[in-house]
Amino acid sequence: MYLENLKLSQFKNYGHLDVLFSQDINCLVGDNGSGKTNLLDAIHYLSITKSAFNPVDQQNIQHDTDFFSIIGGFIHKEKKVIIRCSLVRGEKKKIFEGKNQLEKASDHIGHLPVVLVAPNDSELITEGSEIRRKFFDSLIAQLNRDYLEHLINYSKALKRRNELIKTFAESSKVNHDLIEPYDLILIRESIYLSKIRKEFCQEFIPKLTHHYEIISEKKEKISLKYQSSAIDEDFELQFRNALKKDLALQRTTVGIHRDDFVFKIDGYPLKKFGSQGQQKSFLIAIKLAQFDILKNKKGFKPILLLDDIFDKLDDHRIEKLVKMINDHQFGQVFITDARPERTIHFTKGLDSEVNVIYVENGKVKQYAHEE
Ligand SMILES: Nc1ncnc2c1ncn2[C@@H]1O[C@H](COP(=O)(O)OP(=O)(O)O)[C@@H](O)[C@H]1O
Ligand SMILES: [Mg+2]
Repeated sequence: MYLENLKLSQFKNYGHLDVLFSQDINCLVGDNGSGKTNLLDAIHYLSITKSAFNPVDQQNIQHDTDFFSIIGGFIHKEKKVIIRCSLVRGEKKKIFEGKNQLEKASDHIGHLPVVLVAPNDSELITEGSEIRRKFFDSLIAQLNRDYLEHLINYSKALKRRNELIKTFAESSKVNHDLIEPYDLILIRESIYLSKIRKEFCQEFIPKLTHHYEIISEKKEKISLKYQSSAIDEDFELQFRNALKKDLALQRTTVGIHRDDFVFKIDGYPLKKFGSQGQQKSFLIAIKLAQFDILKNKKGFKPILLLDDIFDKLDDHRIEKLVKMINDHQFGQVFITDARPERTIHFTKGLDSEVNVIYVENGKVKQYAHEE
């Protein structure tokens, strides 16, 4: 699957754009603020039906205009698929596949998958556990529809139980009959969801360490550990024993909403002890593991979007990455770089077709493909 061409109208800093892509490597180069990331974001829209950077759709309409339209021509299983995503200011976003308007975004998401590696991914390392749970939940949900349903069920019960806990705490009276149905749901779903998360990690971790070893040339060892009280034998007891604490803190303190995915480097927390380059390598390895998982599930390669991926990496690590790309481990790849000479240096002499696109102020200049 690959994106053959892209047409933009009034999307972010692009007035009108019509650009052709290589099915191998596309390098978008240009100064800061020229529109490289916006172009990746347009591709992200075509796949996920939303921006990876600005969740407010309306703000992605070019300033002082009243609509945007993103049209992509994909080649998928040897057929052309045209996806159009458009938004008129003040109206609802529309998604078309060919001439058919899709009723729900969920009818489309996952059909033409992309994996994005972007600088703001570092939140996965630096922020609290919620952002990691969200990342892994959305990845698991793409593979397992059941998981999402159970997760929604869990969240609803959690919300309701927290409300009850609050009223109990305020009135200093506990009504066990009222809370018990929610306790049962939370205990049952925690056990189920933690089992899926654990199984997912068993599949994910070898892929993550594999990619990290390649990028880092085994200079250091990383690990990911799934942490959950719900995988303990005595989870139900822990949950029930926490009621006093729950009342004191006025929220549910035990359950899979407290899980974490712990990243370490050479046995120490990555957030505190990893260098910027090591953290970046870790994030890239996570995304490449995500790529492998999606590829296996779909039976074809997602599009890989690499935003400013070379920054903070040393030349050895960049070389390893470029080699992986050139070895056709990935399908179509988009790489942005504010330093054209670096990208040209690292992609020179590759067997893959390299298409260098110069981006300047919401316009692109394309040169003949370099073989
Ligand atoms: N809705 C919008 N209308 C017009 N310009 C926008 C809009 N949203 C973002 N931009 C502009 O896009 C530019 C950033 O583009 P970006 O793709 O992030 O640059 P880079 O090439 O550094 O990745 C900024 O100048 C920003 O003002
Ligand atoms: Mg950028």
